Amino acid sequence: MEPKDTLYLDYRERVADFIFDDAVAAVFDDMIRRSVPGYATVIAMTKVFAEQYAQPDTVCYDLGCSLGASALAMRKGIVQPGCNIIAVDNSESMAARCRKIVASDESGVPVKVKHADIRDVPIEKASVVVMNFTLQFLSPEQRDAMIQKIFDGLRPGGILLLSEKIAFEDADKEAFETDMHHEFKKLMGYSNLEVAQKRKSLENVLLPETLAAHKQRLANAGFTKTHLWFQCFNFMSLAAFKES
Ligand SMILES: C[S@@+](CC[C@H](N)C(=O)[O-])C[C@H]1O[C@@H](n2cnc3c(N)ncnc32)[C@H](O)[C@@H]1O
Repeated sequence: MEPKDTLYLDYRERVADFIFDDAVAAVFDDMIRRSVPGYATVIAMTKVFAEQYAQPDTVCYDLGCSLGASALAMRKGIVQPGCNIIAVDNSESMAARCRKIVASDESGVPVKVKHADIRDVPIEKASVVVMNFTLQFLSPEQRDAMIQKIFDGLRPGGILLLSEKIAFEDADKEAFETDMHHEFKKLMGYSNLEVAQKRKSLENVLLPETLAAHKQRLANAGFTKTHLWFQCFNFMSLAAFKES
């Protein structure tokens, strides 16, 4: 059984900014499943998108791969010949654990796990790029360049799957979605203290934007169509298409 996330169980006098260190990597699978409503659906559908959109002899990317859930989902989905997957994470603990998980998985598509910053990794010959819950950790002023680099590296007919926590312009809606997210976390077994301490740890680190801001950035980069294919409370996933 995967280790349970109890990182914020005990009261902390001072809650430090969240980092993806070894303590987080060790419990990450449990943490993300109990923290992101719909996470299992997003991962399961990543397989379906890879099945539909991976093109022969191209590269599929998992940017901010953590333990490689999206990379492994793509690996299971890809039916075209000559594809390989590059999974990237700048947390050494995540990349090391991801390598072990990938090695123990049996599907044939080659997966290379890179310990690197997604801002520094070239995107080339890509047909499917997945960035699940990672853009939100880049500073807002670096996000346009990141999305542009992905668009430029995609082949015509390629797709970007972008999943993020989002914010809402309307204060009432923001409060509602935030409350519902916290209720989800309590349903998943987190205490009020855990929810409050985790929230504090993320407040300067995870900077959500509105759905409109994401769509505008994708359009500015050149994506001709963007479909919101998933949303649960303040978490969503967009499929952005590069024209063929
Ligand atoms: C919320 S997790 C992503 C979850 C993962 N995509 C999944 O679906 O299971 C965010 C990941 O992005 C990584 N990350 C954050 N900023 C990064 C950067 N600039 N370059 C590479 N990885 C980054 C973190 O180390 C962390 O593992």
